Amino acid sequence: MATLSSHSSDIEAAVRLLLGGNVIGLPTETVYGLAADGTNPAAVLRIFELKGRPKGHPLILHLGDVSWLERFARDVPEQAHELARRFWPGPLSLVLRRTALVPDEVTGGRESVALRMPAHPMALEVLRRLGRPLAAPSANLFGRVSPTTRAHVEEDFGDLVPLVLDGGATSQGVESTIVDFTGETPRILRHGGVTKSEIEAVLRQEIGELTHVRSRDVQAPGMLASHYAPNAAVVVLAPGELLGFLETLDPARFPASESVGLITQGLTRATLEQLGELTHRGQLHGLPEAECFTIAGTRRFEMVVVSGDARAAARCLYAALRHLDSCHVGTIVASLYDEGGIGVAVRDRLSRAAAPRPSLTEE
Ligand code: TXA
Ligand code: MG
Repeated sequence: MATLSSHSSDIEAAVRLLLGGNVIGLPTETVYGLAADGTNPAAVLRIFELKGRPKGHPLILHLGDVSWLERFARDVPEQAHELARRFWPGPLSLVLRRTALVPDEVTGGRESVALRMPAHPMALEVLRRLGRPLAAPSANLFGRVSPTTRAHVEEDFGDLVPLVLDGGATSQGVESTIVDFTGETPRILRHGGVTKSEIEAVLRQEIGELTHVRSRDVQAPGMLASHYAPNAAVVVLAPGELLGFLETLDPARFPASESVGLITQGLTRATLEQLGELTHRGQLHGLPEAECFTIAGTRRFEMVVVSGDARAAARCLYAALRHLDSCHVGTIVASLYDEGGIGVAVRDRLSRAAAPRPSLTEE
């Protein structure tokens, strides 16, 4: 474990690099971000270059305090203030009308900006010392699985970023909920750690959500049907369907020579042993709720078993997808409890990971 003093020297280095216009990796409570000084257009452009992200796709501006909100957003509805007071710091981004202090490079030229105050102590410390907002998308290559540990960021960017602060595995595991306040009524653009019913309870009204978007209307990469995709194909099943599916795998689609990846919740050891000889491989990247197994039978399964509820599934999901990719499985079969709350965000990410993958140049 890093000591307190090495933390503070890392944070000083981070602030120095950011002031110098560099991009760094930074932990938040949701996923790791690829962060730059949000008031420095050249530094913000470097984020797009590193990620391979199309320039029109806007970034979230991260704030060090609730009081910064009025500096970067104007005509802020009282309802947005209510949500900020209740959920910040935390996994909620608010889309509001921007002020002139927000560069075009952050918003892709839009008149709106997404703002959020992250809850991770390292991110907050950097923001407070910097005294400026940080533009930060998730620290993954465009369209790939988001990072929840420092090692994930290094997998995608290696030496391309001068520093990735290590804040451990993230506590939420999926990206923030995004609520848009620029329309007539507030609307959820992306599900995340703050749930629809928690938001509705604060606002005392039902809120809408974005369901289907045509690609030319896409405001958020997270809205693209195919996103958050591992290298392996992804199949999503209800928990009751899993064993039947595995026992009758179609050899045309699942050749016996290819391992199959599994992400499951709530299966007993006895059930797993029906599939072949079970070997315990240890915990997934320091996540106590995720155990890795290999099953060798008529075919090989690489498996991540999640214990706990939907919050645990959210924390483990991206690390599990990345782990199974590193095992070179051809397909990942995911079967997690179908719960509400943050389970809605997990289901959303999985269905996007499973969606057909058009080439990124297609309309
Ligand atoms: O939890 C999170 O939100 C993480 C951490 C690092 O804070 N960040 C994150 O950033 O997920 P990114 O860039 O991967 O996703 C940001 C989402 C995108 O879908 C983007 O299109 C949307 O926010 N967004 C940003 N500005 C917007 C705006 N003005 N209007 C609509 N959507 C916006
Ligand atoms: Mg992202």
